[in-house]
Amino acid sequence: MLVAEKEFSLIVFGASGALAKEKIFPALYEMALEGRLEKEYKVFGFARTKMSSEDFRKEFIESVEKKVDGPNMKILRDLADNCYYFAGDYNSSKDYSDFLAYIESIEKSKNDRVRLAYFSVPPVVFEPIVKGLGSIFKKSEVPLRLILEKPFGSDLKSAKALKDLINIYFDHSEYYLLDHYLGKEGVFNLLALRYANPIFSFLLQGQYISNIQISALEDVGLENRAGYFDAVGTLKDMIQSHLFQILAFLTMNVPRQFESELVHKMKTLALDTMYFDSDISHVVRGQYDGYALEKGVAPDSKTETFVALKLGLDSPEWHNIPIYLRTGKKLAKKWTGVVIEFKPHQNQEKLGIKTINRLLIQIQPQEKVEFYMYTKRSGEELDFVPLTTGKPIYCSGDCTNEHSRLLLEAIRGDKLLFLEFAEIFESWKITDKVADLFAKDSVALNKYMSKDYGPIEADEMLARDGFEWFNDF
Ligand code: BG6
Repeated sequence: MLVAEKEFSLIVFGASGALAKEKIFPALYEMALEGRLEKEYKVFGFARTKMSSEDFRKEFIESVEKKVDGPNMKILRDLADNCYYFAGDYNSSKDYSDFLAYIESIEKSKNDRVRLAYFSVPPVVFEPIVKGLGSIFKKSEVPLRLILEKPFGSDLKSAKALKDLINIYFDHSEYYLLDHYLGKEGVFNLLALRYANPIFSFLLQGQYISNIQISALEDVGLENRAGYFDAVGTLKDMIQSHLFQILAFLTMNVPRQFESELVHKMKTLALDTMYFDSDISHVVRGQYDGYALEKGVAPDSKTETFVALKLGLDSPEWHNIPIYLRTGKKLAKKWTGVVIEFKPHQNQEKLGIKTINRLLIQIQPQEKVEFYMYTKRSGEELDFVPLTTGKPIYCSGDCTNEHSRLLLEAIRGDKLLFLEFAEIFESWKITDKVADLFAKDSVALNKYMSKDYGPIEADEMLARDGFEWFNDF
């Protein structure tokens, strides 16, 4: 079982915000519940809001109670007893010095300890925090690791500026760029499956595939995050990070071994071959009906809550294979996964047999891998019935939630499941092209009804190529 290998202090900047309450605190509880916090640890919240450590502990407990059904109160209280709070200004170097002194007065030991600074704050305050940590915390002998969560910048230029800023103070080994999808077993499994199943490597070749569909459908809406989401939109919130990562894991060359540097190199190459031809018929943008009436959303907001995109990979192996991506909020169901459709055999067409072989790799709600095949129906007709393989493979070993997994990886210092700037830059190059079309209003903002699969235009995009979204999961 993966456990926290070292003593650690988790410093949460933005400790009174939504990300901390929704993801980080529940992840800590899960780590405690699963017995992964064997060594001494402390959690330090830092934010502008004035409150005492006692108030912070109450908030901590409440936020876990909201996310977890019937938590173990003994474990939760023990956890909260290790939480401390410091109210400060992100721009004040005195506050960073005082905060460091406060942390040092509480940490039991300095040996074999690591400090993790989690940026659970809007990107506008990244800069002062990086400076504060870089100029003050780095003087301390306890090693420090930064954890920043996507989106990294808002375009290629700002992502590069972020890298430059971090590099002034920190080495490559000291920062961890987090995309929580990489903490999902199913995402890494897209690559791992190919180590165990040579058949996957044979099948995953452009010559056999007619199209690839990657979907991340959400049934929820804004979840009280209008302030963040309305300024960012689905393209930069989901496609630039999560969907491009899925695409990369699926199509990258298989590295000789599971090793961070090699995996990142291959992944970056895969993203580098990705292309979008800026054809407005290859992108659909949607907004769910009623979005502009949501609390915190500008009444004339043009922010998209749905995007479908047709991409290609510029490599001989994948040439001419359309790759369709779609993601959106308030859709019919929560579903994330990949559907690969194979080309029909020439005899099939001659005989008018319309079956399509598919490989479905489901990431959420439960991981599973299914081959869609067909078998002849008994009798004299050449007629076929579906023969689907597959059983859920969810949690077949050491399972924990995404943020717990990634925190544990950061404590042990393994960057395999984090991003590198090189791949982030490749992702922004494509995202920027689509964003340009959105900015010029070249792509219509189509309305769609909630509980549907997005605007009809997304179906039409595939229909023009002779395909259909596969929604029968
Ligand atoms: C986050 C996005 O990164 O991922 C959210 O900011 C989105 O808008 C969420 O809802 C989806 O994550 P998951 O794990 O529920 O698929």
